[in-house]
Amino acid sequence: MRLRRQTSRFMIVLLLASGLPGAASSQTIDQRIDDLLSRMTLDEKVGQLVQYSGYSEARDTAIREGRIGSLLNVTGAENTNRVQRIAIEESRLGIPLLFGLDVIHGYRTIFPIPLATASTWDPELVTSIEAIAAREARASGVHWTFAPMIDIARDPRWGRIVEGAGEDPYLGSVMAAARVKGFQGDDVAAPDQVLACLKHYVGYGAPFGGRDYNSVDISERSLREIYLPPYKAGIDAGAGSIMSAFNLLNGVPTTANKFTINGILRGEWGFDGLIVSDWNSVGELVIHGYAADDRDAARLALEATIDMDMMGSIYDGQLADLVRANVVPQEMLDQSVRRVLRAKFMLGLFDNPYADPTTEAAVILREDHVAAARDAARKSMVLLKNEGELLPLPDGIGSIAVIGPLADNQNDLLGAWHTLGRPEEVVTAIAGIRGRAATTTTITYAQGSTITGPERDGFAEAVELARNADVAIVVVGDREFETGEAASRAAIDVPGVQGELIEAVHATGTPVVAVVMSGRPLAIPWLAENVPAILQAWHPGIQGGNALADVLWGDFNPSGKLTVSFPRSEGQIPIYYSRDHTGRPRTESRFTSKYLDSPNTPLYPFGHGLSYTTFGYGDLVLSADTIARDETLSVSAMVTNTGDVAGAEVVQLYIRDLVASVVRPVKELKGFTKIYLEPGEQQMVQFTLGPRELEFFNQDKQWVVEPGVFNVWVGWNSDEGLEGSFVVSGN
Ligand code: NOJ
Repeated sequence: MRLRRQTSRFMIVLLLASGLPGAASSQTIDQRIDDLLSRMTLDEKVGQLVQYSGYSEARDTAIREGRIGSLLNVTGAENTNRVQRIAIEESRLGIPLLFGLDVIHGYRTIFPIPLATASTWDPELVTSIEAIAAREARASGVHWTFAPMIDIARDPRWGRIVEGAGEDPYLGSVMAAARVKGFQGDDVAAPDQVLACLKHYVGYGAPFGGRDYNSVDISERSLREIYLPPYKAGIDAGAGSIMSAFNLLNGVPTTANKFTINGILRGEWGFDGLIVSDWNSVGELVIHGYAADDRDAARLALEATIDMDMMGSIYDGQLADLVRANVVPQEMLDQSVRRVLRAKFMLGLFDNPYADPTTEAAVILREDHVAAARDAARKSMVLLKNEGELLPLPDGIGSIAVIGPLADNQNDLLGAWHTLGRPEEVVTAIAGIRGRAATTTTITYAQGSTITGPERDGFAEAVELARNADVAIVVVGDREFETGEAASRAAIDVPGVQGELIEAVHATGTPVVAVVMSGRPLAIPWLAENVPAILQAWHPGIQGGNALADVLWGDFNPSGKLTVSFPRSEGQIPIYYSRDHTGRPRTESRFTSKYLDSPNTPLYPFGHGLSYTTFGYGDLVLSADTIARDETLSVSAMVTNTGDVAGAEVVQLYIRDLVASVVRPVKELKGFTKIYLEPGEQQMVQFTLGPRELEFFNQDKQWVVEPGVFNVWVGWNSDEGLEGSFVVSGN
């Protein structure tokens, strides 16, 4: 017996040494990592921290020699398997490659842009679409998505606002957790899940002037209260990796920032997952003027526990020498290697390194995935205005003129970062409308103008068609690559002559429905003032046209609500509902906080979105007048569908701490729930407020609940709702 046990242990060691993956799986992950580390050369260790983009045969030797740990932008089961085979079968230790990709809003089944799906205020829906994205990506050999982007953005000039959940830390945290759950599921080793990557840590969404990659300066209080919470929520939801950012934060690059990474992320939060740099952001430490040279940059980034250098030859070229020269301790390198290997083990890559082409063929664009894209798109759309109940369109409407450069457009409906999405798989607005309209309805179409060009030659035809129609549906917006990375704009109006096109159509007297397909809030004051109906449809993905038709005819009752304030003009930016009070709130008198040429308020506030039904709010009840600092209180209200059709409503809870040692914002979202009500149906909605919702980061760098009066609102947007108040006592 004894002998046999000894023999089997001996066999395990032998099998491990021979690198047979199956035999090793009886060991714990840490044991397997220790074993590998003990057998790796310095160059092989550094190799695990190196990531390059794309594959060409020129990379074969490096992969064979164990000098690359990860590749991004290699996709498809066959492609990834071919490259993986080199790592598994031809490298000395057979360590699998980790394949990463920006799966931002779907892999091949393209969903609406993330800013749009956040507008559903439906975390379960968001989880379910990320699970679909994960299923398609993993089947295609992609293990790791560089998503979700959870940077809070309060500046629509910044093109990457498209990738996030908008301006609010509470909603942003809910969405961050929801997306992580969808990508990773319960077990990231499953053949239909991928590793999530929270990005871009941290503050990347607040560049000066809204200009991408620009510097960021944020007080520690704002950092902790506004920009960090989505990261904490994502980590609590189990996110396995994080990406550092390009920007300086308070003078120190985020890719070498010991305060935010070593201090907060690794220290306070105990995050021990993989941190990857952004694309050459280690190399950019030199360009920033923070590192003297590449060698210095490699040291600074590794000291900040950046485990993997994305698309950077900096670790590749410098780290081994730094360790040999004892500038960087061997143990520091080993720690990073451990984290990369752990991610690979967690993903099950040592046991299942290859993708299955049959599964890939079966899951890509699966029928239920496409149906989910349609559902997500219609739930993302926000009805901004609907005067005279112009929408929904009557079933038997006689004639519709469909006008505008986004109406018969496939490419731009995909939206920024559409991964493997193909224009030919997109249902256009005009196709969706034609598909839904009654056979008796006459549909005409004119493009009218291009999206950005100056030509007005198409106006006459558009005007003519509008004149002869019962309604004109004008589909305008921006191009997909005009949002996203490196796509900041100083002016955020409807581009080109599209504004003039709508004015010309409107002048015919035919009622106009403006459908705005954009990746950011556009400044649309003229539309808001003049056209009766505006539907913010975002860049809606492959099922955009069908989803649009669902909403236009009321087959689906719109329920989306804005997660970002819509400014009247660029001059109001940054604009967000959760602003601080000023000592001189706006009044008619001269010396108050205001613009001489604009209201202070946004065109449409955070949380705004109309429905084809109406909801009545009443019976606001607080469970107590006074609570102690460590107690909770419940807030409830009755919501009634007072209209004629069923619909969903996002009920929102806001608070304000009236007097505090650090002045609190005029409103802060602290809860929401989405309910579905039949006509006449009522539901009591209940929220709980406690220390987590009431605390803030004070001047002594402590999270505290201070005694005093709090206002509370249960409402339908950040501007309107039922109001009550309660007291937190000094006990
Ligand atoms: C740079 C972007 O900032 C980042 O979000 C992305 O993941 C990488 N490029 C890789 O494509």
